[in-house]
Amino acid sequence: MDDWLLYTGRREPHDGIRRLPDPPRWRTFDGSPVLDRVAGGSGSEHRARTYLPSDDAVQQVNAALYLRRPLLVTGPPGTGKSTLAYAVAHELNLGPVLHWPITSRVTLRDGLYQYDPLTRLYAASREAEDDEGDGEDIGRYFRLGPLGTALLPYPVPRVLLVDEIDKSDIDLPNDLLTIFEKGEYEIAELARRADSTASVLSADGPRVAVDGRAVRCRAFPFVVMTSNGEREFPPAFLRRCVTLELRQPALPEELTAIVREHLGDLADESEDLVERFLNRSASGSLATDQLLNAVYLLRHADVPDRAALADQIMPYLGGSADDD
Ligand SMILES: Nc1ncnc2c1ncn2[C@@H]1O[C@H](COP(=O)(O)OP(=O)(O)OP(=O)(O)O)[C@@H](O)[C@H]1O
Ligand SMILES: [Mg+2]
Repeated sequence: MDDWLLYTGRREPHDGIRRLPDPPRWRTFDGSPVLDRVAGGSGSEHRARTYLPSDDAVQQVNAALYLRRPLLVTGPPGTGKSTLAYAVAHELNLGPVLHWPITSRVTLRDGLYQYDPLTRLYAASREAEDDEGDGEDIGRYFRLGPLGTALLPYPVPRVLLVDEIDKSDIDLPNDLLTIFEKGEYEIAELARRADSTASVLSADGPRVAVDGRAVRCRAFPFVVMTSNGEREFPPAFLRRCVTLELRQPALPEELTAIVREHLGDLADESEDLVERFLNRSASGSLATDQLLNAVYLLRHADVPDRAALADQIMPYLGGSADDD
């Protein structure tokens, strides 16, 4: 029975998130006051509407939603790891995806919030000169990042895409899991003030009143962490996630269906390219969007040697084959 599936992968937006049962007791969060649900598209409508998830992906997305656990998505380039987050936001009407691209320089703090003390200092000295130093609005010097915003007390989950977590500094994954365990964080600069409350900017919405001692979620966000497998994660990390491994589609029907979603009837003229893509995939790494590019280009480029142009548009991605 598939009744338990809130995210179905059928791509038609609906309000099934209302059927999400209460969390397990060990994953209950009580952040308040509860904010308004954020409206709007996922932020990448074409990708969201054209995404054909595997059965495995549908199941693991729902498991992560039910269990209030981050979803760790691994797999080769171009298998749709990042797009999955947009597809879920689109179908379940969860609003814009909070995108947090990770590099080796990114710290946990960057994801939570930014604080601009210099501007504050400058404003304070101006006010002193003008003799109007009363009632400082400290909140305007804080801007929450994607992670900090995802953990605000929203009534339904926000979608947070922690993209390419395997590129991070060694400590980030564990730091992140601590935050996800607690479902809350501190804004130290506010917490140590007599009045620890302030109205701060969120990553993509209006200003929000927070208490810097503990900003806590209500609906645990739907977190997608993607990895190209450049790093092994420790067992303690893996046990706190729901995991999903995506693979490159291996059947011509699967690829043709994806081409049809993106390019409509052009799929009918692309059998030779699908076949070529699959043959080449056997000897080196290729990504689905290379096939999409080839189909589109060859629709417009009237060249005598389709195969040669296709091969140039679909070069092997590392681990190259001998003949490339
Ligand atoms: N199952 C699918 N259905 C439809 N489109 C797909 C599918 N898988 C991949 N694509 C398309 O392929 C492209 C690449 O997808 P995406 O960027 O999500 O891959 P990725 O796994 O995050 O890759 P990378 O590891 O390089 O970041 C997108 O344009 C996406 O729309
Ligand atoms: Mg990606």
